[in-house]
Amino acid sequence: MLRRLHPEQPESFAFTPANQAWAEAQMTKYPEGRQASAVIPLLWRAQEQEGWLSRPAIEHVADMLGMAHIRVLEVATFYFMFQLAPVGSVAHVQVCGTTSCLICGAEDLIGVCRDKIAEQPFTLSADGKFSWEEVECLGACSNAPMVQIGKDFYEDLSAERLGWILDELAAGRVPKPGPQNGRFSSEPLGGPTSLTDVPGPRTEHNASVDLAVRLGDTVKRIDGTEVPLLTPWRG
Ligand code: FES
Repeated sequence: MLRRLHPEQPESFAFTPANQAWAEAQMTKYPEGRQASAVIPLLWRAQEQEGWLSRPAIEHVADMLGMAHIRVLEVATFYFMFQLAPVGSVAHVQVCGTTSCLICGAEDLIGVCRDKIAEQPFTLSADGKFSWEEVECLGACSNAPMVQIGKDFYEDLSAERLGWILDELAAGRVPKPGPQNGRFSSEPLGGPTSLTDVPGPRTEHNASVDLAVRLGDTVKRIDGTEVPLLTPWRG
């Protein structure tokens, strides 16, 4: 798959003040002269802020790290986790299309994305709120089929449930991530068949969902004010 810069680019890029402080702190993790080691975290934060990586963002990161622009462009175009085109203002939906999800209905989920978002991946919906793509295995095969939306996984999906999730997001609500069919995590649908004497769950949600609910940042664009900046290595 060809990965190229988007033909339409913004004039400029700047980190928010808090993200700029975070980025500068990351650079101090590495010995003097090795600041290029921070290239992936800085690109990722730029994407978390904007939703995608524009050319000005890539060049801004390169300038911060004292790297040639082409070196950072190489990184941004190599890793598929970096979005090189604008994504939906509300959410970018990543549908797993690998074996387990495929045999459990991923094609139906892609059909929902085609119907409700755009016929082709990496294309904005008519209202600009959503975009989608098919991705490789996201490591939640026992909860297939699944999608990643923002930072969280929505698992054990049906086409109807994904459609509902997109409607909820469009209305400004963020449905609870995790299994969507009533499962706690990845136990058998009818309940555990082994280790049945182990005490049951002590929390309402599994650990991932619990964290997602507590942080509430599933589809949030990160501006750096979410958590305090901790840099204990700076003394
Ligand atoms: S095949 Fe979809 S998460 Fe592994």
